[in-house]
Amino acid sequence: MKIAVFAGDGIGPEVTAQAVRVLQALGLPGLELTEGDVGGAAYKKHGHPLPEATLEIARQSDAILFGAVGDFDCDHLERHLRPEQAILGLRKEMGFFANLRPARVFAGLEDASALRPEVASAIDLLIVRELNGDVYFGEKGIRTLPDGRRQGWDMMSYAEDEVRRIAHVGFKAAQGRRGKLCSVDKANVLETSQLWRDVVIEVSAEYPDVELSHMYVDNAAMQLVRNPGQFDTIVTGNLFGDILSDQASMCVGSIGLLASASLAEGTCGLYEPIHGSAPDIAGQDLANPMATVLSAAMLLRHSFGLEAQAARIEAAVGKALTDGIRGGDLGGSLGTRAIGDAILERL
Ligand code: IPM
Ligand code: MG
Repeated sequence: MKIAVFAGDGIGPEVTAQAVRVLQALGLPGLELTEGDVGGAAYKKHGHPLPEATLEIARQSDAILFGAVGDFDCDHLERHLRPEQAILGLRKEMGFFANLRPARVFAGLEDASALRPEVASAIDLLIVRELNGDVYFGEKGIRTLPDGRRQGWDMMSYAEDEVRRIAHVGFKAAQGRRGKLCSVDKANVLETSQLWRDVVIEVSAEYPDVELSHMYVDNAAMQLVRNPGQFDTIVTGNLFGDILSDQASMCVGSIGLLASASLAEGTCGLYEPIHGSAPDIAGQDLANPMATVLSAAMLLRHSFGLEAQAARIEAAVGKALTDGIRGGDLGGSLGTRAIGDAILERL
């Protein structure tokens, strides 16, 4: 079980440390952890946010546990040297195209949601976000027009095979859940979205047991707040998925609770909390490590097929929450390490 641990910037090292404690506590045979530098931390040490040595560790590993990247000190750098390039580069280089972001309300946390408890308690959805294409990876730049004005531009595109493979992930995920897939796009305005929709409809022929619907992204943002319980599985592109998953996290109560898996064609995957590096609270034992611990559970499930161990971690986190274990993000006062202790006790 070769697992790469890329802690990164800000609160990344603190939250990752707690997830590592949890993995070690399970006594998994053959567990081998290898640390690597990513993000601003890697830039400061090696002059690059994703050094070749880190990529090599990734290639040699069965799975990657990732903390967070992002550092204000690096905001002045050229884009290809910014911390975010570490995660974008890993997704692209390793072919992690399918991002699974589950969101559900833990029992006892209905009050933490930004929504009314009776609306929030119905949330149990999965966002399947495409990660290798869209406006994220298109040609981009800032150019000067003939009349002297500067113009920023980013090319949005999806090739049909890119849409097809994420659509399959979406349909299969829906089959394993409540059998409903909602494809989110902006087909009323964007040609990229029109192709997206056509291809998703084409793929749906192979999944007669899944009920497919389509929704424009602006409406989806509205519906997520109005009635999130209507969603089972959502499949969408890179940019819309980025935005909707942050929104879903606040519907759940805290961005400190949401885990994610980024999968390639094989079993190797990258697992990370959906939150960022939170430099304002870094190094103060204030961050909630639960999202990272839950990401470690997804790692065991998706890369190693260890469903029972994954469920054990999730149950320990769930129990901690019902027992009233709360960090600052949920109005409590427990620190990162104390939350880790509480999870380990229940494990
Ligand atoms: C995420 C993050 C990243 C993204 C950033 C850090 C590049 O917001 O994983 O959601 O935009 O994909
Ligand atoms: Mg994001």
